[in-house]
Amino acid sequence: MASQRYGTTDVDISSLAQPLQFHPSGQIAKNRFMKAPMGEGLASWSPTDLQQRGVPTDELVELYRRWGKGQNSWGLIVTGNVETDFRSISAAGDMIVTPECEPIGERFEMFKKIAAAGKADGSLMIAQITHPGRQLQYRYNPVAVSASDVQLDKGNGVEYATPHPATEEEIARLIAGFAHAAAYLEKAGFDGVELHAAHGYLLSQFLSRLTNKRTDAYGPQTMESRLRFVSEVARAIKARVRPGFVVAAKLNSVEFQDGGVTPREARELCQALEALGFDFVELSGGMAGQSGMHWEKESTRRREAFFLEWAETITKALGPDTKLRVYLSGGFRSAEAMVRSLDTVDGVGIGRPATAEPELCRDILHGRVIGARKPMRPLENDLSLGLAVSQAQLAQIGSGKEPFDAGDEAAMEIFQADMTIWQQRVVEDGDKLEFVLPPRYSGPHRHYRR
Ligand SMILES: Cc1cc2nc3c(=O)[nH]c(=O)nc-3n(C[C@H](O)[C@H](O)[C@H](O)COP(=O)(O)O)c2cc1C
Repeated sequence: MASQRYGTTDVDISSLAQPLQFHPSGQIAKNRFMKAPMGEGLASWSPTDLQQRGVPTDELVELYRRWGKGQNSWGLIVTGNVETDFRSISAAGDMIVTPECEPIGERFEMFKKIAAAGKADGSLMIAQITHPGRQLQYRYNPVAVSASDVQLDKGNGVEYATPHPATEEEIARLIAGFAHAAAYLEKAGFDGVELHAAHGYLLSQFLSRLTNKRTDAYGPQTMESRLRFVSEVARAIKARVRPGFVVAAKLNSVEFQDGGVTPREARELCQALEALGFDFVELSGGMAGQSGMHWEKESTRRREAFFLEWAETITKALGPDTKLRVYLSGGFRSAEAMVRSLDTVDGVGIGRPATAEPELCRDILHGRVIGARKPMRPLENDLSLGLAVSQAQLAQIGSGKEPFDAGDEAAMEIFQADMTIWQQRVVEDGDKLEFVLPPRYSGPHRHYRR
C-alpha cells in the first residue's frame, strides 16, 4: 500500500517561494528551500589506491541533475560531505578533493559536470567541505587529528581512530586543505562552499568545549579562541575565491547544550561569523552517538523542526538588521511547519524527504502536495534505518530510477532483507575495506521519465 503524507491543512506557501539574497556574496537563492547536505556514498572507492577514492561518478551527476531540474527546483542544493583528505574520511563513497588534486583530469571534469547539472535551472550549488577529525573509523585510518585527544567511544559496533591534538603545522595543513578544496570547487563551477562545523566533525571539535581541551590560542577559553580555527579556514578560503563566492557553515545545536557552547556564546559565534563574511549558517544538530535527529519532546514534535527553539535564540540575538542568513534543517515534513518556521529563520533545509521525493520542493511550491510522504512508522525514530533508506534511494535516483516508497510495507520488507544481507557482508569484510558502500534496494524499479 502506498504511503500517506504529512500535513493536514492547505497553507499559503508564497513565503517559501520568495527569493533570498545573500551578503556579502550578492548571490540570490530563487526560493527558501535548501536540499540539505547528505553524504551520497556514490563516489568511487578503492581500499588501497588513494587516488581512486572520491572521484564523482555519473550516478552523482544524474542525482544532482534531478535535484536541479525545473524552474521550481531547490533554491540551494548543498552536496554531501566533500572530504579534504584521502585517508581521513567520514564515509567511503564521499567525494574527495585534497591538496594533491589539481583542477584537471577526470576528478575535476566530473565535479564540473555535477555543478553544471545542479545549476541547470538556476539552483545555487554549494559544496559542503569537511574533515572528520576524531570521527574517523579506525578501519579507515587508526590515527586521527583533532583539537585534543578526547577519544570518541565505540558506538554501533564502530571503533574510532585515536585522536591527537593537531600541531600548528597540522593546523596549517588542514586550513590549506579547506582553502584548496574551495578554490578547486569554485573553478569547477560551484557557487559556494559550506563548512561542515556540525555533527561532531573536525571544525565542531574545535568549537566545542567537550572536545577542545587545548591551552593554546585555539583553546576553548573564549569564543574568539575556539573559533580561531574556523576563522582561519574562512579567511584562507576568502583569500582564494572571488567575492561573489558563497561561504557558509553548518552548526550544531548539540554543542550549544551540555556544556558545549552556551546560548550566549552561540550568539557571539553567529555575530563573529557575520563579521568574517559568512553568507549563511545552516543550523542543525546531532553527532555520532548523540544524533538529536529524532523527535524527543512533544513540543518539538508539534513544531516539527528539531532545532527551532535554539534557532530562535540565535535569530533573536542576531537582530533584524543582520546580514547573516539562517537556514534550519532537521524534521521538516509539512508545508505548514516550513511556512511557520520562516517567522524565525530565512530558509528550510530538507534532508530525508528529498531522497524519497527529489521534486518535493517543486510539488510544494506548485501546491500539488502539502507535505512529504510518510515512511513506515518505525522509520521516524530509527535513525540508522532512515539513513540507509535515504542512501538506497539516492543510489536509485542516481541510476535514473524512482526512489522506492518507504511508506509501502512490501517495499520496506524487501529493503529490510537487503539490509540484513548487507550487514552480514559488512561484518565479513572486516578491515578489508572492500565492502563499505551503502546498501542498495533490490526490489522492482520504476524508471524515471524525463
Ligand atoms: C543519508 C544522509 C546523509 C547525510 N549526510 C550529511 C552530510 O554529509 N553532511 C551534513 O551536514 N549532514 C548530513 N546529513 C544530515 C542532513 O543534512 C540533515 O541535517 C538531517 O537529515 C535532518 O534533516 P531531515 O530530518 O530533513 O532529514 C545526512 C542525512 C542523511 C539522511
